[in-house]
This record gives sequence, C-alpha cells and structure tokens, in this order.
Amino acid sequence: MDKGDKNALITGATSGIGKAIALDLAQRRLNVFIVARDEGKAGTTAKEIEEKTGNRPAYFIGDLECQRRIPDLAQRIKEKMQRLDILILNAGAVFKNRAVTAEGIERSMAVNHFAPIHLTGELLPLLQESRPCRVINVSAGAHWLSPVDLEDFNFELDFSGVKAYARSKMAAIMGFYEFTSQYPGNEIQFLSLHPGVVGTSFSENNGKLYSFFMSVLRPIMRSPASGAAPVVHLALSAALTGKSGLYFNRFKEKRSHTLTYSKAARQKVWDLTWQKIKEITE
Ligand SMILES: NC(=O)c1ccc[n+]([C@@H]2O[C@H](COP(=O)([O-])OP(=O)(O)OC[C@H]3O[C@@H](n4cnc5c(N)ncnc54)[C@H](OP(=O)(O)O)[C@@H]3O)[C@@H](O)[C@H]2O)c1
Repeated sequence: MDKGDKNALITGATSGIGKAIALDLAQRRLNVFIVARDEGKAGTTAKEIEEKTGNRPAYFIGDLECQRRIPDLAQRIKEKMQRLDILILNAGAVFKNRAVTAEGIERSMAVNHFAPIHLTGELLPLLQESRPCRVINVSAGAHWLSPVDLEDFNFELDFSGVKAYARSKMAAIMGFYEFTSQYPGNEIQFLSLHPGVVGTSFSENNGKLYSFFMSVLRPIMRSPASGAAPVVHLALSAALTGKSGLYFNRFKEKRSHTLTYSKAARQKVWDLTWQKIKEITE
C-alpha cells in the first residue's frame, strides 16, 4: 500500500509529542487525523501542519476524560474514516491532586488508562476491517514507579500524583497485553512504548511551580520531534510486522514491569475497567 493511502489517527496531537508525531506522519504523506478536546487548538494545529507540510490533518473533537462520550467519538471516526491503519493513543496527563471525573474515575486513570482502552475497544470493528494495522500506546517508563493496586484501583485509600500516573500507565500496558491475547494472529498489532523524557507542555496543568520546573528542565530534555521518532518507528517499521504485545523503551524492545505479565492481574484490570465502562455507558 502507498503511504498516501494509509490513515493514521493520533490522540493528543495539539501539543508536545502528539503534535510532532502528526507533523512527521503528515510530512511522510500519510492521511493524518487527530483527536483533540479543544476546537480552537485542533484548528490551529491542523493549519500549522498544513503550512509546514501541505498536508492538512482532519480532526475529531472529544474530551477523553469522559467515557460516556467515547462511543460517540468512535462512531464519528468510523463514519469518516474508511480504514484505520495506525491508531496512536498518545493523549495523557498527570494530576498532582486527586480529582475524579463527573463519572467518578480518578482523572489520571480516566485519561491515561480508561480512554486508550475504551477508544481502542470501540474502534475494533474498524481495525478488524483494516488489518494489517497497528495500535500504539504511548506509555511511560514511569509505570515502573508504582504497581497497580487491584484493591484500590481508583485511589480511594491512597493517592499521590506520581502513583496515579504510574499505575494508570501500567494499567494501559496490561490492557494492551490483554488485547493481544484476545486478538491472536497479530494482524492487529498492539505495541506500547516509553518515548523518552521529552520537553513538552506535560504537567503544566499543575500550577506555576510545575510550569517553572518544566521551563527550567526543557532545555535538557529531548525535543518533541525526538520523542515522536520512536512512535513513528513503531507505527511504520517493516521489521515489526507481525509483532504484538510488546513494550519498547524508545526503539528497543524491553520488559515492562513484572506485574504486567501476570495473567490474573491483567484479567482483574480488564474486568475492573470494562465493568466501569459498562456502568457508565449502558
Ligand atoms: N513528556 C515526557 O517526558 C513523557 C515521558 C513519558 C511519557 N509521556 C507520555 O507522552 C504522551 C504525550 O505527552 P506530552 O509530553 O506530549 O504532553 P503534552 O504536551 O501535555 O500533550 C498532551 C496532549 O494530550 C492531550 N490531552 C490531555 N488530556 C486530554 C483529554 N482529557 N482529552 C483529550 N486530549 C487530552 C492534550 O490536549 P490539550 O492541548 O488540549 O491540553 C495534549 O494534546 C502522554 O501520554 C505522556 O504521558 C511523556
């Protein structure tokens, strides 16, 4: 298939790594689609990418914190996109204080775990029709910092922003491994990665002090383009054809945290996640 015939959908492409991925794929002449929560930012991003590449991304508006709205977002995607060759779940955030969404899910869990698993689940019919295709979970090396607590999945008993971020990222990796076992044959490839430590707008929602630290650290961090490079590699590399259920630290295949390989723990994460999604959406 020609690259121009390939469709790629990227969440969280209005900033940082996601925007750099969209730009890179647009430069390579793929048909780029983005998911953004803010119409103004989506329009500005599409315009900027068009000016730089001559290839204008289309966009879908959706707040990924809200699980009730994800089926409708997926429906709009399915209606507009004939096929989906590359799905990149990149949108993510860290929250220093515990807060829950209107649906009662702790916010890091909602954006970093529930949203990528739920959206992927809703898009599976389109992915099935588009085989061979790839689904990429932009995870984080920080998932090593705190293993998922199956007895306190929503941080009712114990919360810290770092724990919530780490566990939400670990839960999504476990969900991706579970998708791999449910869709054997690897015609839909499920891959997770840590993109590196990248100077972006990450954590700027956490107040002036965090923004200040980010501004000080940004010059010694990777550029968004460097963070995007391994994601684009996972999306396009012919060498990865037929591989699924893997975790990468940038370009290198690595083991993720030991708990992510526990079948029992994965099953529990899967059940807790889809039970909650069903409660919200049915
Ligand atoms: N930066 C790093 O060092 C690093 C390291 C490891 C992993 N990561 C992961 O890389 C991914 C991208 O992060 P980044 O560093 O590029 O951060 P960023 O610059 O803050 O970008 C995050 C993107 O996610 C979007 N987003 C956040 N919450 C959303 C929601 N509820 N609904 C829809 N979109 C939402 C943001 O949209 P708005 O523009 O509307 O805010 C933005 O486009 C994240 O998953 C992050 O966990 C980053």
